[in-house]
Amino acid sequence: NNHCVILAGGTGARLWPISTTQKPKQFLDLLDIGKTLIQLAYQRASRIFPKENIWIVTLNKYKDLTQEQLPTLPEENILTEPFQRNTASSIAYASHKIYHTTGEANIVFTPSDHMITDEFRFHDELHNALDFVTQNDVILTIGVKPTRSETEYGYVQVDHAIKYKTISNLFQVKTFTEKPSKEMAQVFVESGEFYWNSGIYITNTKSILEGFSKYLPDIHNLFLSGRHNMCTENEPYFIRKVYAECPNISIDYGIMEKANNVYTLISDIGWSDLGSWNSFHENFEKDEYDNVLNGEMTLTYKTSDSIIHLPKNRRAIIQGLDNYIVVETKDILLVCKKDNEHLIRQFNTDLKLLE
Ligand code: GDD
Ligand code: MG
Repeated sequence: NNHCVILAGGTGARLWPISTTQKPKQFLDLLDIGKTLIQLAYQRASRIFPKENIWIVTLNKYKDLTQEQLPTLPEENILTEPFQRNTASSIAYASHKIYHTTGEANIVFTPSDHMITDEFRFHDELHNALDFVTQNDVILTIGVKPTRSETEYGYVQVDHAIKYKTISNLFQVKTFTEKPSKEMAQVFVESGEFYWNSGIYITNTKSILEGFSKYLPDIHNLFLSGRHNMCTENEPYFIRKVYAECPNISIDYGIMEKANNVYTLISDIGWSDLGSWNSFHENFEKDEYDNVLNGEMTLTYKTSDSIIHLPKNRRAIIQGLDNYIVVETKDILLVCKKDNEHLIRQFNTDLKLLE
């Protein structure tokens, strides 16, 4: 009884202004291949899970977008949240829902907004992971070798390798650190003992619900208190009440940093988080001066190490920029030093004050 839950209620604030609260990045065709990131996540899941076992958790306001983009997903598999409370509550909601619908199950929780280039390996890892969590009450994450001292990710420190059947890339996790400081991230990466948390979690209903009961009892009790409403016509009212009281916390801070049954499968699945303009720059094809340019109507002169993302057919001349982000959408123009991308979240907030 294997299920997959796709988390799709984030707003992609660091990729503003192409990712907006009206249409966050998971609903965009960021790779320019005719499929949005959530469609790709659903497609990856569909190769392993029957569609009745694929669940999307998202905000009420994105339900229409979700249905439009995933027309074959049964409507009852879209779990909607009245407001954003971060991933702990979304994972609790889906876990209770699945437990209520089908009893004990294995669950893969995955982001809706990242990129995986080696799907074959990814599927192999999921098969191994699902096999492992059928036998063991653990929370597994897929770990990725770090390539820079990124502060926006979680890091797992690995202990000894675990022998399980023919699997050789499975490790017990010694520590889990969500979004470390720059100094810490540098030490982690240099040590060679730390891997990035991809944010893909594989577990079973027993382990994840135990995690909530131990480390986030407030959230756990809110869901338990009215669980008889689950799968009845009262579910939306019950969920609204739960969410009104739910603390705003991610699963990473809430459970992963504290739990002692965390394991990781270290694998090169071609994972990248398309979370920020810098990761965008890292993952897309660059010209000989290290620029990521979209469209053929932009001419650049003496411009390097920059991202120029303009509306299709926009004619533009860029001269003399180094290390810049230039993004234009139909109503916003952003020009920002690439090294200062951490300010972007704030820019968006500041601009709202003008409205
Ligand atoms: N339904 C729902 N509701 N989904 C949400 C919510 C919410 O309130 N908040 C975030 N999500 C979704 C996002 O759309 C994304 O697909 C996923 O949950 C992860 O949330 P992010 O907000 O993108 O998390 P992060 O990038 O800061 O950190 C996580 O991912 C990193 C790798 O990309 C953590 O798991 C880190 O440890 C990890 O390294
Ligand atoms: Mg993210």
